[in-house]
Amino acid sequence: MKIALKKKKIFIAGHNGMVGSSILRYFKKLDLKNIIVQSKKKLDLTNYNKVNKFLIKTKPDIVINCAGRVGGILANFTYPKEFLFENIYIQLNLLDACCKNNVRTYINLGSSCIYPKKSKQPIKEDYLLSGKLEHTNEAYAIAKIVGLKSCEFYNRQFKTNYFTLMPCNMYGPNDNFDIKSSHFIPGIIKKFYTANRKNMENVEIWGSGKAKREIMHVDDLASAIFFILNKVEKKDKKVLAVLKKNSHINIGANKEYTIKQYANMIGKLFKKKINLKFNKSYPDGTPRKLLDSSIIYSMGWKPIISVQKGLRETLKWYKENIK
Ligand SMILES: NC(=O)c1ccc[n+]([C@@H]2O[C@H](COP(=O)([O-])OP(=O)(O)OC[C@H]3O[C@@H](n4cnc5c(N)ncnc54)[C@H](OP(=O)(O)O)[C@@H]3O)[C@@H](O)[C@H]2O)c1
Repeated sequence: MKIALKKKKIFIAGHNGMVGSSILRYFKKLDLKNIIVQSKKKLDLTNYNKVNKFLIKTKPDIVINCAGRVGGILANFTYPKEFLFENIYIQLNLLDACCKNNVRTYINLGSSCIYPKKSKQPIKEDYLLSGKLEHTNEAYAIAKIVGLKSCEFYNRQFKTNYFTLMPCNMYGPNDNFDIKSSHFIPGIIKKFYTANRKNMENVEIWGSGKAKREIMHVDDLASAIFFILNKVEKKDKKVLAVLKKNSHINIGANKEYTIKQYANMIGKLFKKKINLKFNKSYPDGTPRKLLDSSIIYSMGWKPIISVQKGLRETLKWYKENIK
């Protein structure tokens, strides 16, 4: 495959996070050398002047925004102000500084959880803003919708290539395993790991376990981002036409299971039998969140990591990297 991206200078914002670090690994494997990263300590993306100065100095051709305040249902519900402000500032600062500094291509990350709570399933791109949002993550969703719509507005006004990818739930290396702020997959992995070590009989699962979710290994998202960027840089007419029509594109695995089924899959990775105890005092969140990913599938991309392999490798990563 011809790699058009080789000639481009790419800034990955949020490279220490789960998604950013996966993209960095993916690009390194492809031997892309012109990659720019900067730590949060040196570049706080909520500070516009710092972001603008950084882009003036580094002059990237492409910016991939993987930075943001991210978390599970409890963190989202407890800290709505931080989820709203930080995500809006990071996205708008990057977008505006990109536009001012002639960065033509910008990838923004949305999420399946910003579609309306009662969306028809599977969720198509144009269901966005067609109904009420899920109450528990409303602040995050509103911030993400601001970022997504802003890409559309910049494209209309400045003829830029700014678009948003809408992944389903992600998991994998460098995920957040802190139970209070994590998503459900790393949370359940950690609970099983702890229960196994401490010889406990049960693990507690938040909610009824009946909500259905679609998950994808983060390395599949990295491959999707590479796939789209490479097509954009090759000026692939079909892909550019699709992106012109849809400024946000769903990226999912096209499979869904209940939280209980995921918990059972994770439980099977341990020798000792540990029982599930559902704590229904926690909310279930949206009942279903299955993306219709037919647009990206029709471009020729598909995820390749099975849930079983992905969960097994994530547990292995957790055991090797646990502090
Ligand atoms: N995780 C998922 O399941 C999922 C699903 C769909 C979409 N997404 C989207 O994918 C993106 C990345 O998510 P993730 O799971 O990789 O999150 P993550 O692991 O929490 O990583 C976020 C990164 O952003 C950086 N960051 C946060 N605030 C910053 C600031 N003010 N200035 C500079 N850097 C800052 C963090 O730096 P530190 O490490 O220094 O704190 C971290 O490296 C987000 O936009 C998220 O909405 C994620």
